[in-house]
Amino acid sequence: MSELTRVAAATPAKDITGAIERDGAVIVENLIDEQQAKTALDELRPHIEATPTGPDDFAGHQTTRTGALVARSPACRALVMHPSIIGMCDAFLLPNCKRYQLHLAQVIRLMPGQKKQPLHRDRLVWDDYLQGVEPQLNTLWALTDFTCENGATQVVPGSPAWPKDREAKAEEISYAEMPRGSVLVYSGTVIHAGGANNSAADRVGLNITYSLGWLRQEENQYLSCPPEIAKDLDPALQELLGYTMMSYALGYFTPPDPASGQSGIRPPEFALGRRPRKNRNRLQAPEDLTDSGRAG
Ligand SMILES: [Fe+2]
Repeated sequence: MSELTRVAAATPAKDITGAIERDGAVIVENLIDEQQAKTALDELRPHIEATPTGPDDFAGHQTTRTGALVARSPACRALVMHPSIIGMCDAFLLPNCKRYQLHLAQVIRLMPGQKKQPLHRDRLVWDDYLQGVEPQLNTLWALTDFTCENGATQVVPGSPAWPKDREAKAEEISYAEMPRGSVLVYSGTVIHAGGANNSAADRVGLNITYSLGWLRQEENQYLSCPPEIAKDLDPALQELLGYTMMSYALGYFTPPDPASGQSGIRPPEFALGRRPRKNRNRLQAPEDLTDSGRAG
């Protein structure tokens, strides 16, 4: 079996992204502690329980996938903005965009009896139109322990460099076994899939993915977290959802209500009641995050 690289939580972001560029995936062990993972799971549990199982083999007939997590879950917001993950996104995605964005946030529960998911590359959401650029960075946080028995994610290290039509042999597949609080970080090009849950308990992972800011997001963040909810979030998180210009002209809007007295073009922040921040770099000091310059 090919082995996934495992690193400690304190490993510098550039060393972790080096492993992702080489293998397509890496496990960061215990990036949050057990209690943080349990707190997140407890908070998400009512939403998980209210979610129907998947409609097909790919989504999983014994799997639930629950979204709108930025709107619903403070614990999820904190993980979206986890400084170590943001550092990895900076290193991995900023070479190909001015800004990156939240692509999706989804809690995935594999219930007992769930079969293996078909192997795939996540960049398939853009079909084959996207060539020559790595579009995304994925995280899958273990909110329960991940074991081979309960459905640890299948990953094929090294597969990003493979020809598109090469299929993985069984001995080339690794399993992302990891204790609760660890996170599997992987590219959009590595071949992977959910495992089979042959245990008697749920396996729960929190999938938070980031993509280049000039691409369409997999989860429509403006619908999952509309302005009336987003206006009260941390400005840096608002920007990550997409409530900011991704380049000089990418992402403007015009308020549709004539009563607003606005008929020109406006940056997205205007819909949240503020102006764009002067400094929108991800790795700014926390005190800079409060300088939101409310629009009059
Ligand atoms: Fe996937």
